[in-house]
Amino acid sequence: MSAGVRFDPAGALRGSYTPPADKSISHRAALFAAMCDEPVLVRNYLDSADTHSTLDAVRSLGAGVEEQGEGRLLLRGVGLHAPLEATAGLIGVGNAGTLMRLLPGWLAGQPGRTWTLDGDESIRRRPVDRIAEPLQAMGADIEMRDGRLPPFTVRGAELSGIDYELPVASAQVKSCVLIAGMVAAGSTSVIEPEPSRDHTERLLRRARVPFAQDGARLTVSSVDELELDEIVVPGDTSSAAFVVAAATLVGGSRVVVRGVGLNWTRTGFFRIAERMGAVIVGDLEEAGVQAEVEPLGELDVASAPLEGTVVEPEEIPLAIDELTLVALLGAHAEGETVVRGAAELRLKESDRIDAVVEGLRGIGADIEGTADGFVVRGDGSPLRGGVIDARGDHRIAMLGAVAGLASAEGVEVVGMDAAAVSYPGFEADVRALA
Ligand code: S3P
Repeated sequence: MSAGVRFDPAGALRGSYTPPADKSISHRAALFAAMCDEPVLVRNYLDSADTHSTLDAVRSLGAGVEEQGEGRLLLRGVGLHAPLEATAGLIGVGNAGTLMRLLPGWLAGQPGRTWTLDGDESIRRRPVDRIAEPLQAMGADIEMRDGRLPPFTVRGAELSGIDYELPVASAQVKSCVLIAGMVAAGSTSVIEPEPSRDHTERLLRRARVPFAQDGARLTVSSVDELELDEIVVPGDTSSAAFVVAAATLVGGSRVVVRGVGLNWTRTGFFRIAERMGAVIVGDLEEAGVQAEVEPLGELDVASAPLEGTVVEPEEIPLAIDELTLVALLGAHAEGETVVRGAAELRLKESDRIDAVVEGLRGIGADIEGTADGFVVRGDGSPLRGGVIDARGDHRIAMLGAVAGLASAEGVEVVGMDAAAVSYPGFEADVRALA
């Protein structure tokens, strides 16, 4: 195992900071551009391991990818109903769960070809039956290991539209079905139990796909081609959340975050943190906006004392990738912080309930895991510090780093290189603010 990286207690974090490009939106930008007939310019595409996997995947499907530097990509797609004749049968997705779950929606509706999607050890542990079930109901031909895990083999078929009630609020599953809906006969509806990130819906509107949203019901209809010429990717709200948490916890900090995505379906963590006492000033988007563009702007963050809170189940999908940060804030807050209804965390890049409970307990937190969340108690003072194992999970690595900056004695993060999955420049960016 590689040596750990130390994050020692920091003086106040100061300055302005621009997060890397959004991972979720970058994946979607590359996939949607690959489905277009005309070239699409993508600005500010994320340079990370996960989003490179998506570029490799669309290249292997016959799309042209011209990397012009500084996040500019010119993508020459193959069209939505591509013959995809000359394409490779094996698609490596690496660690990218979003690629694993979105791409099959497109491939399932391409008759005459077979593809197998496979990835790393973490991907092979994460269920894909959640996408297979609706795709099979649409007529897809799919095989999985043990009937639920990757490798995932899909033989393209003629699909028909369905009405699908999502059993869990998952933007990945929702997006897979909506994408399949574009290449299926008739109309396809997805009913969401609760709102989750809506980047796919915004791109459908942008691309002039017949798409309607009526409350929790999202309906897409069969379409011949997408109309997109340019996609601008905002800064990643989830990546920025690590710096927002650090600025909140390290006394005397004041950080201005620039160019960050402010889409309401992504900013649940900021609302939870504000309720705990955090000072985060910015033009966050309001709830319920049915837009075609992604809002972005500035956040001005200052350190503040925190109080415990209860995170309600409907808040979970809106803060799904930041819930480990809620645990860290809770460990520094006065009183008790409770997260429940978050069993999905067990199915992420690591079992994030176990990872955060063991990780934070090891550096002095009073935290217990539950089947679907955790309870953490604090008295307003910093955690002691120690060692946190990233478990190969990018977000646990970054959590460990923030915990170290806010701690009394520092934290050594074992496996810090995992951060490169979503945020290769993380360590340099936080050190530049300290
Ligand atoms: C994502 C959705 C979320 C999130 C993941 C990215 C997406 O997963 O955790 O990091 O891009 O749609 P689920 O929708 O499966 O919860």
